[in-house]
Amino acid sequence: MRARLLPPWLAGGQVASGSAPAWHRLAALALALLPLLLVLGCSTQQFPQSALDPHSDAAALQQSLLMKLVFWVVVIFVVVETALIVTVIRFRARPGAPDPKPVHGHTGLEIAWTIAPALILAAVAIPTVATIFKTQAPASPRALQVRVIGHQWWWEFQYPHEGFVTANELHVPLRRMVSLTLESADVIHSFWVPAIGGKRDVVPSRINHLWFTPDSAGVFSGECAEFCGVSHANMRLRLVVESPADYARWVRGQSAAPFEPDSASQAGRGKQVFLTAGCAGCHTVRGVSPGQIGPDLTHLASRGTIASALYDNTPENLSRWIENPPARKPGALMPVLGLPPAQIADVVAYLRTLR
Ligand code: CUA
Repeated sequence: MRARLLPPWLAGGQVASGSAPAWHRLAALALALLPLLLVLGCSTQQFPQSALDPHSDAAALQQSLLMKLVFWVVVIFVVVETALIVTVIRFRARPGAPDPKPVHGHTGLEIAWTIAPALILAAVAIPTVATIFKTQAPASPRALQVRVIGHQWWWEFQYPHEGFVTANELHVPLRRMVSLTLESADVIHSFWVPAIGGKRDVVPSRINHLWFTPDSAGVFSGECAEFCGVSHANMRLRLVVESPADYARWVRGQSAAPFEPDSASQAGRGKQVFLTAGCAGCHTVRGVSPGQIGPDLTHLASRGTIASALYDNTPENLSRWIENPPARKPGALMPVLGLPPAQIADVVAYLRTLR
């Protein structure tokens, strides 16, 4: 009976050494290595969407809170597991040994295990509430304002003061606070760029807020973090943090009127197809077409990606996309227009001029 609770090699002493089944040792080794594997999975090199690699003030606040919580979790784990293992080994049943002394009604122990959790909870609650107050405070009025609208399955970015609209690639200047207002055109989404903090739900008929001050230049990937339909996993975005000079150049480019191709050129023919085949009904090209359903394409060629950061913005990918959007991105609302290849090539030539 007594040895059943523990494998003989762990119960110790009762059986001759060397009799422990090999699979027990292997299983113990695998269990011991598991946390190591999990920690290796946090590498920011392989996984650019790590929440453990902050690049903004808001993300740094969140990470600092996380580390405080992890500290207490580790302390609790070590203390509890040590007590458990010591108890299991030291007080195990032995032949002829008396029952261990019960601790029921031990006043000292009762007080200790009431006060200790209360202190730990206070140590967790105080930094948590302080961080909530900091991150929920209103953004500075001098912050860059961007209106973010979640759509199935792409992101619209409106720059109200600069006066233009873009999609799926959010450009912001380094070290200036950015204040996002988050709205949804359809269902609940969640805006999440782990490097700058988050997430924040994007809810229909409601305006949510998120601010951050980016502290490193670079391109950071983000993702919709609330299941929102069949292409939820394909609702990606890119955050481009650039020097103030590069950002100003980008704003000038986005503010400019779209390129007007020569009507006799391939791009000119493509513009005619764009206007007549159905594209213009859904997409805005400023001053050319007023569509409000799909992403604004006024400066599509200035973006690095298409289809909500799903594909690189190359002529081949554009052509494959126009040919059959739902085949490239499940559930995509953009229909198959059934254009002949020559017309697709013309439209791609036109879109490539929209720098
Ligand atoms: Cu939008 Cu998930």
